[in-house]
Amino acid sequence: NVLILDFGSQYTQLIARRVRELNIFCEIKPYNHLPEDLSEYKAVILSGSPFSVRGDDAPHPDLSQIKGKKPLLAVCYGAQYLAHFNGGNVAPSNTREYGRAKLSFIDHSESFFEGISEGSQVWMSHSDTIKELPLGAIKLASTHDVENAAYKLKDEETYAIQFHPEVYHTTDGKKLLENFLVHIAGVAQTWTPDSFVETTVAALKAKIGDEKVILGLSGGVDSTVAAVLLHKAIGKHLHCIFVNNGLLRKNEFQSVLDQYEGMGLNVKGVDASARFLDSLEGESDPEKKRKAIGRVFIEVFDDESHLVEDAKWLAQGTIYPDVIESVSATGGPSATIKSHHNVGGLPDYMKLKVVEPLRMLFKDEVRRVGASLGIDKELLGRHPFPGPGLAIRILGDITREKVAILQEVDAIFINGLREWGLYDKVWQAGAMLLPVNSVGVMGDERTYEKCVALRAVESTDGMTADWVNLPYEFLQKTSNDIINKVRGVNRVVYDISSKPPATIEWE
Ligand code: XMP
Repeated sequence: NVLILDFGSQYTQLIARRVRELNIFCEIKPYNHLPEDLSEYKAVILSGSPFSVRGDDAPHPDLSQIKGKKPLLAVCYGAQYLAHFNGGNVAPSNTREYGRAKLSFIDHSESFFEGISEGSQVWMSHSDTIKELPLGAIKLASTHDVENAAYKLKDEETYAIQFHPEVYHTTDGKKLLENFLVHIAGVAQTWTPDSFVETTVAALKAKIGDEKVILGLSGGVDSTVAAVLLHKAIGKHLHCIFVNNGLLRKNEFQSVLDQYEGMGLNVKGVDASARFLDSLEGESDPEKKRKAIGRVFIEVFDDESHLVEDAKWLAQGTIYPDVIESVSATGGPSATIKSHHNVGGLPDYMKLKVVEPLRMLFKDEVRRVGASLGIDKELLGRHPFPGPGLAIRILGDITREKVAILQEVDAIFINGLREWGLYDKVWQAGAMLLPVNSVGVMGDERTYEKCVALRAVESTDGMTADWVNLPYEFLQKTSNDIINKVRGVNRVVYDISSKPPATIEWE
């Protein structure tokens, strides 16, 4: 196990991903919540940071239990931190040191740069620079502009690099991490989806015994993989609840329910559409819609969970990015752009112990674990779909009629993507029903009907996204189908905004 101490860099999660790609397990902890027991960590990595080591507010953790005692790799801020507090000199740099650079000097007497040659591209992102190395340091590499691009502390397994090995633009970044973790620190590369399944199933068995667990299935990848893992561990003691909030895609409730039953899961489908739609009546404010749906979901789930006698546990499909976000110490409070109701879980009064088997996994790892569990590829490849469903794709107030219209439009669009082999090229797609009527002509009749917007984006995590360049022929056919087949719609537009500044959903 490897510890990554987070100083608030936007790239910290990327370090973890690269390490995991080497089949090495790692955890991110905020710099100000250093674990008391460090014995399980074989190596430590210090991340970059938006702070300057010269600032009064600079993160300044006590590394006395780590430095010189365990193999340590300090990246960017980490490298400056070790220099600044150990007799080196860190100062504002004269030239801007952002973006690509090439290693012009490498000390090959050290195994750290083994297999990496001069000329290798690295990615810089810093405004301070290390003018003088700390006491007892040996320079390991330079670039044209950055003299001290990498160094090592004598008689310690402490390495520091100014550039970012975790970003793709650092060509040999993964090799460098491998050199440090595998060859220098001697960490074993045994962390694979199969080994994760094996150890997690055993741990779940031991933790839960023969107590009953309740889990809310959403049809999405995370809750499904969590359910299958738990099912493997405790079988019929897992009670799944799948709620229809009336805002799912066309026929989705039944087809997903059938799929779950086919997988042998003990699942109860609860159709609470009317309860949700009634609670939304007349509401057009996006945040209030989300809150109402969140509230009703908890009510329905609470009612249903009480029907499972003697349940002791609540299982959730929480994944690692949610966990890191909620504990992240640095970066300050970020603005709430949209409140995602499914993050944060259920209220305390349910009095259930919480089990989150995917808490340590990134999304792509969840998919790999799902594949190793034998879950259907199509299910694992499903686009993300927001918890509040079509409610946040119907701009303005929601009626049953509008839901029905949007379900038809969405089905034509999504089925079209599948038929044209485009579905897997798109990260997320859907249709928005706009609160706009416009004039059209059908046959010889004037129409005054609704407008829908189609949206398809590429992204890796939903944090940033760009619109997809779908073929014109596809858009043309889809638009025709929608207007011809869906009564009440006479205009289709395609959304060509990126995130930021737009968001993926319109509400
Ligand atoms: P935005 O619109 O913020 O969406 O760019 C980013 C990703 O989050 C999804 N999303 C939600 N998911 N509850 C959810 O479970 C919500 O309230 C919610 N709002 C947005 C959105 O579909 C996209 O994948």
